[in-house]
Amino acid sequence: MLEIKNLKKKYDNDYVLKDISFKVEKGDIISIIGPSGCGKTTLLRCLNFLNDSDQGQLIFDEETYDMANINKKEINEIRKKTGFVFQNYNLFLNKTALQNVTEGLIIARKMAKEEAIKIGEEMLNKVGLLDRKDYYPSQLSGGQQQRIAIARALALNPEIIYFDEPTSALDPELIGEVLEVIRQLALEKRTMIIVSHEMHFVKNISTKVIFMEDGLIVEEGGPEDIFDNPKEKRTKEFLESYRR
Ligand SMILES: Nc1ncnc2c1ncn2[C@@H]1O[C@H](COP(=O)(O)OP(=O)(O)O)[C@@H](O)[C@H]1O
Ligand SMILES: [Mg+2]
Repeated sequence: MLEIKNLKKKYDNDYVLKDISFKVEKGDIISIIGPSGCGKTTLLRCLNFLNDSDQGQLIFDEETYDMANINKKEINEIRKKTGFVFQNYNLFLNKTALQNVTEGLIIARKMAKEEAIKIGEEMLNKVGLLDRKDYYPSQLSGGQQQRIAIARALALNPEIIYFDEPTSALDPELIGEVLEVIRQLALEKRTMIIVSHEMHFVKNISTKVIFMEDGLIVEEGGPEDIFDNPKEKRTKEFLESYRR
């Protein structure tokens, strides 16, 4: 469904992505783990063209794109198929929960307002927040805001959803409700790429785990391979740091 080949990205003269290649099949739940600063956020942002890339091919549904030379039209084509959930939710603060969820449908998809509201309410219901539809982000907890952000991504019915540390801005007691929503999406066989430090969750939910360090994929495999039987010393050391 999606393939990335030889992706490179530098800031100034430093390569932060040094030659990344991987494949995503429909229904895959790929978790990306690795130390802070290894390039996880940059990778997701390059996949959705929120950052530009210096080299790489992106193949989406058999269509090949040159990541370093891509135009607006192609970016829009790809973004129609993708959803993005940010660490800090990125909600419109001056819009209600429902307006946040329907905005993309009305503006980007040019959907009639009534139809957008119907879908928006359905999505809010899915994340358990229909009763909060008229609340503004400031009136909601971080966990609720992130669930709204997930509902917003779902409303556009993307083929793949990228999650960049969706729970790392949350107080510990709010993490579970967000992971629960993502777990629900996994049961529905949604294709997802998830950057997360919630190792227990990652091990349980993923079809494939990618361990990154210093702009490179060090090791990838099934969750049992990576967590119970890592081959690379650096993978072992990284996972050890979570057991302490
Ligand atoms: N806008 C930027 N300008 C310069 N360097 C950046 C920028 N964003 C990220 N970096 C650097 O790129 C590297 C990878 O960052 P990032 O993708 O955020 O890592 P991660 O998400 O794994 O913590 C880090 O060394 C970071 O300092
Ligand atoms: Mg990051």
